[in-house]
Amino acid sequence: MGKSMVALWVDMMVAMVTVSVTCQAYPSDEPLHLSPYIARGELETARNLSKVTDICDPETRSDCDVTIPESHAGFLTVDESLGKHTFFWYFPSQENPDAPVVIWLNGGPGITSMLGLFWENGPLQPRRRDDSATSSPLRPEDRFYPGEFEFRNGSWSGPFSMLYIDNPVGVGYSYQEREDPDEVVTQDVYSEDLYQFIEQFYQLFPDSYNKELYIGGQSYAGKYATAFAYRIHQGISRGESNLPLAGIYMGGPFFAPEIMVPAFIDYFYSLGAVSQSQVKAHKERTTALFQRYSAGLLPTNTTKYDVFSEIFTLGVPWGDNYVTKERPGYGVVKQIMVSRRVQQAVHAGNLSFAADDFTLGDNLGYDVLSSARDKLGALLDAGCYRVLVFGGDYDAITTPNAVEESVLATPWDGQAEYANATRWYWYWSSSERSVVGGLYSQAGHLCRVLVLGAGHQVPHDQLDASREMMKQFVESGCVGSD
Ligand SMILES: *[C@@H]1O[C@H](CO)[C@@H](O)[C@H](O)[C@H]1NC(C)=O
Ligand SMILES: *[C@@H]1O[C@H](CO)[C@@H](O)[C@H](O)[C@H]1NC(C)=O
Ligand SMILES: *[C@@H]1O[C@H](CO)[C@@H](O)[C@H](O)[C@H]1NC(C)=O
Ligand SMILES: *[C@@H]1O[C@H](CO)[C@@H](O)[C@H](O)[C@H]1NC(C)=O
Ligand SMILES: *[C@@H]1O[C@H](CO)[C@@H](O)[C@H](O)[C@H]1NC(C)=O
Repeated sequence: MGKSMVALWVDMMVAMVTVSVTCQAYPSDEPLHLSPYIARGELETARNLSKVTDICDPETRSDCDVTIPESHAGFLTVDESLGKHTFFWYFPSQENPDAPVVIWLNGGPGITSMLGLFWENGPLQPRRRDDSATSSPLRPEDRFYPGEFEFRNGSWSGPFSMLYIDNPVGVGYSYQEREDPDEVVTQDVYSEDLYQFIEQFYQLFPDSYNKELYIGGQSYAGKYATAFAYRIHQGISRGESNLPLAGIYMGGPFFAPEIMVPAFIDYFYSLGAVSQSQVKAHKERTTALFQRYSAGLLPTNTTKYDVFSEIFTLGVPWGDNYVTKERPGYGVVKQIMVSRRVQQAVHAGNLSFAADDFTLGDNLGYDVLSSARDKLGALLDAGCYRVLVFGGDYDAITTPNAVEESVLATPWDGQAEYANATRWYWYWSSSERSVVGGLYSQAGHLCRVLVLGAGHQVPHDQLDASREMMKQFVESGCVGSD
């Protein structure tokens, strides 16, 4: 009896301590760590704490014209021993409480996924200056009010619940407390970190179990998404996970470097941007590089920079979109994320923010050369997941031909069927008007789309078409006119 009284008293003290901690009001210099609450089963407290609280409320302040839409943000601990904490910002669908959960990841490697949120498809965008039309397209920083934002009409967070994750740890607000000098960031490492993240995220928002989950993003995230989905697939196969993974989607994806890197020079050649001798030299050099890589002959201390200097070559300047020549606004997004208003709203404490910090490259090493083709093939063969591979026709980074060759070289049961497929025009309706959004092919669970008038940042360049493409993919497995 006395013992249980002591236990009760201890419980009460713990509860009091917990209350005093959870009542601590922001602003705070401490980032919000949600994992301890999840571990104790205090899910509602964690959800409440993760609510994004914007000090700027147009109802009460005349100097604010927009308030951040209802959303959740914070940190989930994905590796206790190294103190790895992954930052997320989650916008539940504004239209449909049962909407699928769509994870968005940016690539780089080393680029924050908040680029996707503010620059591409989220509900907020940098606030444009009225005189922006006259400014140079090459300097996004000149065209926006620093640190300010406005609503984006037609964002993906209308039809979908958008979950933006800073990945790998070290990028954006995701951070690591203890460095391991021997750690090499590989597909295994970041897919395990993301898996630890998503299992906790689903505990935090258990109603997500009733919604389809789609994982994707852009560029190097073609590799992240494939490896991450494959890790979930393994968890499901072993009976360890019941995440409702429904598919993956990859925009301008870099997932099969051994195919893509020798191939993209052909696109530059077709544009007249390189000479025949440059094509020959590039193919010889990169083919030899991948041969040495697969034979295990590359020095183990090579950094991402060394690898990149081997695989990149002269080509079309402004590769993100060689028609508009627009560069993505990393600096603009960083100005927003480090503003005291947003930093406090998303519970980032006083952490510094790595928008396009490539120091990560030092321990990413040969992941740059690693391929996710086999994993993509395995996911297609599993028969349970839809796969969308898309890109823009103005993309001179992950060029359409290089993506195509990577898809054609992906080993799966539908490989021959895909190779023999016809490419069709994709029409969709915009304000009663039928427009050609792009072209597409389909084989089994694989949907391939070329979005017209888009560069590397497809949702930035063609927001409406990209949103419609995603809606049709999620509804029917591909685009098309039913
Ligand atoms: C969470 O927030 C709601 C709404 O403000 C409140 O009613 C509820 O008591 C809170 N729950 C906890 C555990 O803090
Ligand atoms: C969004 O749409 C509304 C209504 O059509 C319009 O008033 C507003 O200016 C638009 N906002 C932006 C940023 O384009
Ligand atoms: C890698 O190791 C070799 C041999 O030890 C050394 O010569 C070279 O400078 C090292 N390179 C880097 C990038 O550390
Ligand atoms: C954040 O605050 C802590 C505690 O006050 C301090 O030790 C740390 O250096 C600060 N970090 C940054 C990036 O300002
Ligand atoms: C390839 O596609 C054509 C036209 O759609 C069809 O007639 C033919 O049978 C297909 N060949 C193979 C090997 O699937």
